[in-house]
Amino acid sequence: MEKLKEQAGIHAAGYVQNGMVVGLGTGSTAYYFVQELGRRVQEEGLEIVGVTTSHRTADQARGLGIPLKSIDEVDQVDVTVDGADEVDPDLNGIKGGGGALLMEKVVALPTKEYIWVVDESKLVNCLGAFPLPVEVVQYGAQQVFRRFERAGYKPSFRMDGDRYFKTDMQNYIIDLQLDEIPDPLALAQELDLMVGVVEHGLFNQMVQRVIVAGQDGIKELNAE
Ligand code: 5RP
Repeated sequence: MEKLKEQAGIHAAGYVQNGMVVGLGTGSTAYYFVQELGRRVQEEGLEIVGVTTSHRTADQARGLGIPLKSIDEVDQVDVTVDGADEVDPDLNGIKGGGGALLMEKVVALPTKEYIWVVDESKLVNCLGAFPLPVEVVQYGAQQVFRRFERAGYKPSFRMDGDRYFKTDMQNYIIDLQLDEIPDPLALAQELDLMVGVVEHGLFNQMVQRVIVAGQDGIKELNAE
């Protein structure tokens, strides 16, 4: 599995050219993309500016000597490469397994070419087996939790030992065990309207290209 993630990450780095502003995703697959960019910066003199989607990725990129800017210092991002937890046939996806969904979506939106890197186990017919992460403000988080319970969404607070897990933006995450999400667009709309919800892990029809590493090699799925 690790080898497949590495192959996908290195393949995606092929979309990065000199002079680009590059969104650097978060997670164990995006890690290999960032490593490969770092290698090219050091060995080939690749000149790019990175915009990171988490403190973790920022630490990695700094360690590799990749110059960084904040998302507010750039007008747009040329290409962003990130991982995903599930991807359906319409290229809707769940992200946020690593807790970085808010920053990931903020960087994805002004991106011209948004790419995911996954191993083939992430491809599903219907989203929802993977718990859907919802980032909520700390104030009133229990209220939001109870609303999810009443809706039958089987919520659980993400924990970090015996404390609530806190995102880089200091919010909590409530994971929803939905099992199946027959209409991801409708659910996204519902969550978008909920007071107390900062962002959710449904990334519907945002990605242009999904690079899938499998036992038979690399394949690319492209949005229509
Ligand atoms: C982090 C994410 C990750 O991209 C997603 O969880 C996939 O991670 P991995 O490549 O480690 O499976 O959304 O918030």
